[in-house]
Amino acid sequence: MTAASLSVSGLTVGYGPVQALDGVSIEVPEGAVVTVLGGNGAGKSTLMRAISHTLGFSGGAIRGGTVSFGGQRLDRLAPDRVVATGVVQVPEGRRVFARMSVADNLRAGTLGASGGRRAAARALDRVHELFPVLKDRAGQVAGLLSGGEQQMLALGRALMAGPRLLLLDEPSLGLAPLMAKRIAEAVREINAQGTSVLLVEQNAALALGVARYAYVLEVGKVTLAGTAAELSGSDEVRHRYLGVVDETVAAETEQEVAALTAATSAPALRRWVS
Ligand SMILES: Nc1ncnc2c1ncn2[C@@H]1O[C@H](COP(=O)(O)OP(=O)(O)O)[C@@H](O)[C@H]1O
Ligand SMILES: [Mg+2]
Repeated sequence: MTAASLSVSGLTVGYGPVQALDGVSIEVPEGAVVTVLGGNGAGKSTLMRAISHTLGFSGGAIRGGTVSFGGQRLDRLAPDRVVATGVVQVPEGRRVFARMSVADNLRAGTLGASGGRRAAARALDRVHELFPVLKDRAGQVAGLLSGGEQQMLALGRALMAGPRLLLLDEPSLGLAPLMAKRIAEAVREINAQGTSVLLVEQNAALALGVARYAYVLEVGKVTLAGTAAELSGSDEVRHRYLGVVDETVAAETEQEVAALTAATSAPALRRWVS
């Protein structure tokens, strides 16, 4: 496979009269974890749906701008063709098939994949290694799993498609802190194995601990962008996004991010004027 990076340029999206994104540009370099932070209604899910080109299912449409992956325009492809390029979304609210078994949920993930049976078997081994609980509970119906286990299943199902880029829409939402931490560790591991990740989160502390680059999205516009270390050190992010957690956690996150990114040379924090 050739190296591929995601490039979103000047993306404007609307739902009927509602404009949800206004000229959004973001980059996910090959092999990186990039996070987009933003509060409720900022446009995070809209951005994900625009990239996976599933906006039509929620009555939305791209009004301007482009989405490219490895130089190929995704915004002109049908959703299943987007999956075939290796861009796979885990939607908000971890929609697993509640009445189907864990094993069948995972099998469903291979439907959009281009690889054959051997690729699927390898992917299943990898998912079971990452989330042993999904092997232990293979025969159980998915609806009986805990919230955290369902998130693992949703992630596992996406991995079955052999993604080159994973789009994760608030995977920590509604999870207890310990479970959210486990999901964050899984995201790190998935990335270490060679998959790029675009992670949208309201949980800034968690996201900045995993990502290399970060953007802040506010009411449909990118207002800040930089390395995760730069953003976690910025007063604005600390007060508005890390302020929701206690100062100790914020300080720990900052140290963790600083340690993770100490070796990388950091470009200056850029600010967009809105
Ligand atoms: N299906 C939809 N129809 C109309 N408006 C929508 C729809 N989905 C989202 N919106 C609006 O678009 C904006 C961005 O929403 P969303 O992308 O869901 O934000 P986030 O995921 O950051 O919470 C909000 O103003 C929201 O009300
Ligand atoms: Mg959302």
